[in-house]
Order: sequence, then structure tokens, then C-alpha cells
Amino acid sequence: MATKIQIVFYSMYGHIYKMAEAVVAGAREVEDVEVTLYQVPELVPEEILERVGARAARASFAHIPVAKPEQLAEADAIIFGTPTRFGNMCAQMRNFLDQTGPLWAKGALIGKLGSVFTSTATQHGGQETTITSFHSTLLHHGMIIVGVPYSEQRLLAMNEITGGSPYGASTLAGGDGSRQPSENELAIARFQGRHVAEIARKLKG
Ligand SMILES: Cc1cc2nc3c(=O)[nH]c(=O)nc-3n(C[C@H](O)[C@H](O)[C@H](O)COP(=O)(O)O)c2cc1C
Repeated sequence: MATKIQIVFYSMYGHIYKMAEAVVAGAREVEDVEVTLYQVPELVPEEILERVGARAARASFAHIPVAKPEQLAEADAIIFGTPTRFGNMCAQMRNFLDQTGPLWAKGALIGKLGSVFTSTATQHGGQETTITSFHSTLLHHGMIIVGVPYSEQRLLAMNEITGGSPYGASTLAGGDGSRQPSENELAIARFQGRHVAEIARKLKG
């Protein structure tokens, strides 16, 4: 039976969506894995999305199905993508995870792999805190945390501004959101997808 990898994200301006597509591509490089991409439900009213200039970006990935919390139980590994909000995950992802109490009560996610990627506006705006604080929820669920090891040499890049850390892939959107994920950041995201899928496949054995 195929190893099942779910990528579950929220994105307001499209950066995390682009990173999520790269994670999907990386995971799909591994044989015998079934990879599905989901987004979590939006909580922000349409008129606010319009006012903050997010409607067009959100429309570009409106075709991605919306996750239901109980679906997580079907996965062997779940890779979560969230933009930073004040150094933490976004409310949309928090709200989604806060509906996983019934899964927690059954221990439905125990032993599954969990991994996180993120996006911030600024270089030091909380990428690592967002990912590591997200890990607490995954550990409460009994999940096994997977990051990005330094065998991914792109983590060492010093010749350009780049996201990506041993905690997970990341990108920098810029204060006005105009910066897009760089090739280095997308490659780290592909690595993370592939790495999680490889371990999940071995564990499923
Ligand atoms: C309420 C709010 C809080 C934010 N907090 C931070 C922050 O703490 N650090 C930071 O660098 N960027 C912060 N940002 C910028 C977002 O992280 C940025 O818009 C996001 O990473 C872009 O990803 P997306 O295009 O997938 O939505 C914040 C944005 C909002 C709306």
C-alpha cells in the first residue's frame, strides 16, 4: 500500500502556497507515495481580504481542496505550511489544529511524521519560533518531528538572503509581499518533501 503524505497549508498572499507546491514536488520524487495537498479553511471575511489585497492571490489556489481535521488520521506523514503571525503560526492553522481534539483523544496521529515550513515578511521575523512552537502541537499528538538536515547544503548558503533552516524550509516575502520564494528556498522545500516522504516510506516498511 502506498505511503500517504499530506501537505496542509494556509496562505494569504501565495508564498506558502508556492512553497507547498515545491514540497509536493519533492515528496512525489519518492516511489510508492501518494501525495495530497490541502489548505485549511479561511477565517478572514472576503471584504477584509479585498482590503488587504489578498483576494487575487487566494483565488489562484482556490482549486486546492479544503482539509477536514479527521482526514489527518489517514496520512503516514503530514507536512504543514503556515505564514508567521507575530512569530507564531497563523490563526487559520491554529483554528484547524484546535479541531483535532478528537484525533488526540483517540491517539490517531501517534507515530506519524510531522514537519513544518513557513514564511515571514522579514529576515528575523520569527521563522524559527514559528516552526519550533508549531512542533509543540505535533508532539502533543505523539508525532515524530522531521526537519531539514544539513545534508541539504543549501542551508549553508551565504551568498544571498535566503530562508531555510534545520527546522524546516522557509521563505521571505518582504514587507510588501513582493519578494517571491527564491530558487534556493524552493529547492530546500523540495528537499523537505522528499526527505519526509523517504522516512515515511521506510517507517511504513
Ligand atoms: C497579523 C500579521 C502578523 C505578521 N507577523 C509577522 C511577524 O511576526 N514576522 C514577520 O516577519 N512577518 C509577519 N507577518 C508577515 C507574514 O508572515 C507574511 O505576509 C507571510 O509570510 C506571507 O506568506 P503568504 O503569502 O503565504 O501569506 C505578519 C502578517 C500579518 C498579517
